[in-house]
Amino acid sequence: MGATDVYKPRQFNLSGLNGISDETLEMHFKLYEGYVKETNNLTERISEFIADGKVDQEEMPAYSELTRRLGFEYNGMVLHEYYFDNLKHRGGSGDPAKASEFAKAAASAFGTYEIWKADFVGIGKMRGVGWAICNQNPANGRLSNHWITLHETGNVAGFNPILVMDVWEHAYLLDYKPADRPKYIEAFFSNINWDIVEARLVKSSGVKSARA
Ligand SMILES: [Fe+2]
Repeated sequence: MGATDVYKPRQFNLSGLNGISDETLEMHFKLYEGYVKETNNLTERISEFIADGKVDQEEMPAYSELTRRLGFEYNGMVLHEYYFDNLKHRGGSGDPAKASEFAKAAASAFGTYEIWKADFVGIGKMRGVGWAICNQNPANGRLSNHWITLHETGNVAGFNPILVMDVWEHAYLLDYKPADRPKYIEAFFSNINWDIVEARLVKSSGVKSARA
C-alpha cells in the first residue's frame, strides 16, 4: 500500500459459516482486498491527471477509462464490506423473528416477510454477474429489492443497503456448482446477522430527526 492510500482493507471475523467454507471466505477476502487496492490506485492516478487543474484533450480517453473503472472498483469495495458485515461468525439462525423490526419493515413494503424473501431470493437467482440488495429509501423508510449488475449498475442513489448478497460465482464456486446457486442462497440466509441488518434499518418515524 502507498502512503497516500485513502482506504485500508478491513478485517472480518468470519469463519464456521453454514454451507460457506472458510476456504471460500479466505479467497473472497483476498478479492475484496484487490478492490480496496484498485480504489486507492485509481483515486491516486486520477488525482495526478487533475493536479494541474485541468484535463487536457489528449488525456481524456485515459482519464475517462480510469474514472469509469473507479465506479466498478469503489462499489466492489463497499458492497463486499456490507456483505461480510451482514454475515454472522459461526452462522446465524435463519429467518428473523416475526416481531423483529426487519420482518415488520419487509411486511410493510411487500405484504409479508415471505413475499419480501421470495423477491430477494428471486433476484439472487437472476442469471448474470452481480448482487441482490435490499435497500431502504431514507425519505420514507420503505424497503425495496434490487439487482445490481457487476458492482455499479442498478444502485439507487441515496438509498441505504440493508441486506447485501453477493451472487458472483466466486462467492460459492468452491462449495457449489454454478447451477446450484439456490443452495448457496439458502446457505447465505442461514448465516445472516440480523442484528447488523436491523442496526442499518432506520425506523421511518425517526428518519427526519436522524437527518436533521
Ligand atoms: Fe464477491
